[in-house]
Amino acid sequence: MSSHNSILVLFAHPVLEKSRINRSLLHSIHGLDAVTIHDLYEVYPDFHINVKREQELLVSHDIIVFQHPFYWYSSPALLKEWQDLVLEHGFAYGQEGVALQGRKLLSAITTGGSEPSYSRSGYNYFSLRELLTPFQQTAQLCGMEYLPPFVVHGTHQLRETQQIQQHAQDYQRAIVALRDNLIHWEKLQTCQYFNQALDQVIQPGVSHHG
Ligand SMILES: Cc1cc2nc3c(=O)[nH]c(=O)nc-3n(C[C@H](O)[C@H](O)[C@H](O)COP(=O)(O)O)c2cc1C
Repeated sequence: MSSHNSILVLFAHPVLEKSRINRSLLHSIHGLDAVTIHDLYEVYPDFHINVKREQELLVSHDIIVFQHPFYWYSSPALLKEWQDLVLEHGFAYGQEGVALQGRKLLSAITTGGSEPSYSRSGYNYFSLRELLTPFQQTAQLCGMEYLPPFVVHGTHQLRETQQIQQHAQDYQRAIVALRDNLIHWEKLQTCQYFNQALDQVIQPGVSHHG
């Protein structure tokens, strides 16, 4: 069995108490071994980010997850501030900025817009993958591998607890598989979304939910 990965979830939601979807997703991975949940709006309500601490957190994990609702085709403001301050020249990029090389970055995104709305014939025109290219290229510039995103579309239409629970279960399955190295990496890179074909990208194996 291959080695395990530690996972850092950088969570950004400015009004968690009003969240339906992100809260359920987050709950499903709460307390998992080797998974650190870092709630940025809770830790930095005044936006005063401790850059050194954030950089230390990054280098002590193998896989980084940006989990957030999609706001104006991007992340909530604090995660952008985090990128601006933490991904410094000489740390994350530039000749000597090699601290993040070889790590993986996953976006876990919820969108109000439906999947078809993110297409040429839809009102969002661009695909979500196109709109996420700044995140993808940020990862690439830092020498990180950008994974296909975990996406929940049409959040306002998700009325039934059962539907939300299914997404939460899928999220837990994806995070545990990343942690336990049960991913077909080549197959995963052919997917538009991480969660479009979990059975195909996750190898059967004993996973530990502890
Ligand atoms: C300020 C703001 C901007 C938003 N921008 C977008 C957007 O660009 N695209 C989209 O599909 N949904 C957008 N939404 C809807 C949110 O993505 C949606 O409410 C969220 O994913 C639901 O997750 P939650 O239940 O965890 O809050 C926006 C919502 C807010 C409040």
